[in-house]
Amino acid sequence: MKGKKRGKKVMLIVVSGIAGLVAVVFAALLLISGVFTQQRYLQPWKPGYSAKMADPRLQLTAHGLLAASGHNMQPWRIKLDPNNDMVFSLYADSSRVSPAVDPDARQFMVSQGTFLEYIRIAGAELGYDAAIKLFPEGEYEESRLAGSMDSKPVARITLTKISAAAGPLYPYLFQPDTNRGGYKPDPLTDSQVQELKGINKDSDMTIEVFQDAGNMQKLADYANQAAKVEAGVDRVMEETAQIFRANEREKNKYRYGFSVEGQGTSGLMRHVLQGAVTLLPSLNKGQAASDQLIQSTEASVDKTPAYALIVSGDNSRTSQVRSGMLYSRLILTAHRLGLAMQPLSQAIEEYPEMNGIYSDIHRSYAPGGGTIQMLVRLGTPLNEVPLSMRRDVQELIISN
Ligand SMILES: Cc1cc2nc3c(=O)[nH]c(=O)nc-3n(C[C@H](O)[C@H](O)[C@H](O)COP(=O)(O)O)c2cc1C
Repeated sequence: MKGKKRGKKVMLIVVSGIAGLVAVVFAALLLISGVFTQQRYLQPWKPGYSAKMADPRLQLTAHGLLAASGHNMQPWRIKLDPNNDMVFSLYADSSRVSPAVDPDARQFMVSQGTFLEYIRIAGAELGYDAAIKLFPEGEYEESRLAGSMDSKPVARITLTKISAAAGPLYPYLFQPDTNRGGYKPDPLTDSQVQELKGINKDSDMTIEVFQDAGNMQKLADYANQAAKVEAGVDRVMEETAQIFRANEREKNKYRYGFSVEGQGTSGLMRHVLQGAVTLLPSLNKGQAASDQLIQSTEASVDKTPAYALIVSGDNSRTSQVRSGMLYSRLILTAHRLGLAMQPLSQAIEEYPEMNGIYSDIHRSYAPGGGTIQMLVRLGTPLNEVPLSMRRDVQELIISN
C-alpha cells in the first residue's frame, strides 16, 4: 500500500516536472520569438494609416504597397514631382531583384504592375483619377538593366480630382492576397469563371481558368515537378532563405521577405515556431526547406479545384507590368467572389534548371508564342490567412 502511494507521489513529481519544463520551454520560445514586441511591420494595413498623410500621392502609395510582390520584396520607389503636387513616378528598386529565382526580372516587373493597380483603385475611392503612363521615358536598355531601372520610371502617375466613389474592390485591398492553405473541392460556378475572365479588356492578354480533370492533372503535375526542381537548386533556395525573417525583431527590422505567417501560421503557434527557427535556423534551411517546398506544393495542389493563367502576347517590359495590373484586379475580384488565390510560379521561372518545364508548359498553354506571366491556383479557402509584412511608406520615397 505504502509502495503504491510512494509510486504515485514519484509519478506526480515526474509529471509536474515535465509540465514545468514544457512551460519553461514554451515561455522561452515565446520570448525568443518576441511575443511582447509591437508589430510595426503590420502598421500599413491599419485603415487609418494612409489618412495620416497630407499628400494624396503618399496616401495612394500607402495603398500601393499593400499589393502582392514576388518574394514579398516590395520593389517600389516613388519620386514626387517637385513642380506639380498631383504628379509622381514609380521606379523599380533595382536593389530588390532576386537574380537566382527571377534572372530576367520578369516577376519583378509584374510586381510593378500589382502596385500600380492598387494605386488606381485607391485613387478612385479617395477622389482621384490616377492616369498611369507606362515607361514615359521609354523601356529599359536591357544591356544595362539595373542602371536603366534607376534612371527610367516604370510609370508616371498624374492625379486629377474627381468625386470620390466607393468602388467594389477597394475593401479587398486590405486583405492578404496570397492564401497558401487548402481550398474546398467545389468547382467555380460558370458566373464566377465568366466574371474573372471578363476582367481582362486587353486584346493582347488572356485570363484562362481551368477546372476540368485533364488540365487539373496536367497543371498539378507541372507545379509538383517544378517544386522538385526548385528544391534541388541550392542558389535559389539560399536566396529565399536569405529573406526569411525568423522572429518579430527581424520582421520589424526588414519589413519585407517571408515569415512563418506565409504558411498560414498564426496566434501562439506563430511564436512557438518563430522561437524554434530562431534557435535552430537549420529548421528552415537546406534539406528542411527543400522538403517543405515539395510537401507544401503537393498539399496545396491536392486541395485545389481550379487554376488560372495570365498569358501575354509578348514578353515586353510593358506587358509584364500590365500583367501585374491584371493580376491585382484578378485577385481583388476573386476576393469579392469569396475566392482565394496562390501563385505557383516555379514552372514559369527562367533559370536554366527550369528550362525544360518552362518550355513544356508554354507549349501546352501559350502555344501561339505568348508568355505565361502568372500561374495561380484558386478556390474557396478553408481558412483565412494572416497579413504579411509591409514597409513604411516613407522608405519608398526617393529624395529629390
Ligand atoms: C509575380 C509574383 C509571383 C509570385 N509567386 C509566388 C509563388 O510562386 N508562390 C507563392 O506562394 N506566392 C507567390 N507570390 C505571392 C507573394 O509571395 C506574396 O504576394 C507576398 O509574399 C506578399 O504576401 P500577400 O500577397 O499575402 O500580401 C507571387 C506574387 C507575385 C506578384
